Amino acid sequence: MPYRIRDGLIDYLEIMQIAGVSELGPPVLRDCVPVENIATEYNEMFAESSDNKNSDKKIENTEIINNPENQQPILEPVFIQSRESIPSKPTEESVQELPISMSMSKSKTDQLQELAQKVAQCTLCQELALTRKQTVFGVGNPDAQLVFLGEAPGADEDKQGEPFVGRAGMLLNDIIAKGMKIRREDVYICNILRCRPPGNRNPSPEEARCCKPFLDQTLEIIQPKYICCLGTIAAQNLLQSPNSIGSMRGKIFHYNNIKVVCTYHPAYLLRNPSAKKQTWEDIQLLMQEMGLAVR
Ligand code: URA
Ligand code: URA
Repeated sequence: MPYRIRDGLIDYLEIMQIAGVSELGPPVLRDCVPVENIATEYNEMFAESSDNKNSDKKIENTEIINNPENQQPILEPVFIQSRESIPSKPTEESVQELPISMSMSKSKTDQLQELAQKVAQCTLCQELALTRKQTVFGVGNPDAQLVFLGEAPGADEDKQGEPFVGRAGMLLNDIIAKGMKIRREDVYICNILRCRPPGNRNPSPEEARCCKPFLDQTLEIIQPKYICCLGTIAAQNLLQSPNSIGSMRGKIFHYNNIKVVCTYHPAYLLRNPSAKKQTWEDIQLLMQEMGLAVR
């Protein structure tokens, strides 16, 4: 049965993706309700967009069918080459190019954005909600294979709204870029807590518990294969373990289906540079697991 996208819930990026103009991956289609034909609507919205250079990628027709197995509707947009070059009857060649299957789910970016909005309104930990400048959700690639998990925002993060932007963050950047030879933008970075504990005190177990669902939902959206816990608080809270970071480092743990490596917190490494050697060993272990070349 044909579907249409509920009014107002499709944005510019989605239109570009549906039209095949964006390289950001499959399009995102949200709540849908049945209708006959949505091609006209797409094209109107597409024509209104300021960046409509690719008019030959307009959708001529759209068929959305229900996938009987999982009930998820599948969108089959049918693109046209250009108004002039449309053959009056479709050739075999043009037909073969046409359908692209797309899943009807929200993009990870949108899901993370929605979650971040929820987080921004959270007042579960009263003291934190009263003292924070802002919540610090997470940053990085929504498709990241690897998530770095820290403890909680500090003063710089509280000010800027992004995790690991202070001195410890600079060292983490070096670990990622110089050590692992990947980019900060390729991984995802977040914390056990989304609020700064006043005076940079340790998160309380209760605060960590309150914030855990936000971490779990973030991981569910991103679906990483690896987590690197930075420091005691991250390791103990993620793995629900009372053990010291020194005893947890150098091993592979599992959290749900995600492989977990624990190492020292970059802030600890700044105070104890001799421990960088062990962290480099832990990072090499992680890289081996990830299939990355270790120098
Ligand atoms: N330390 C952390 O644990 N997290 C940050 O985001 C910054 C510093
Ligand atoms: N203590 C911490 O909290 N983190 C470390 O990384 C090491 C010691």
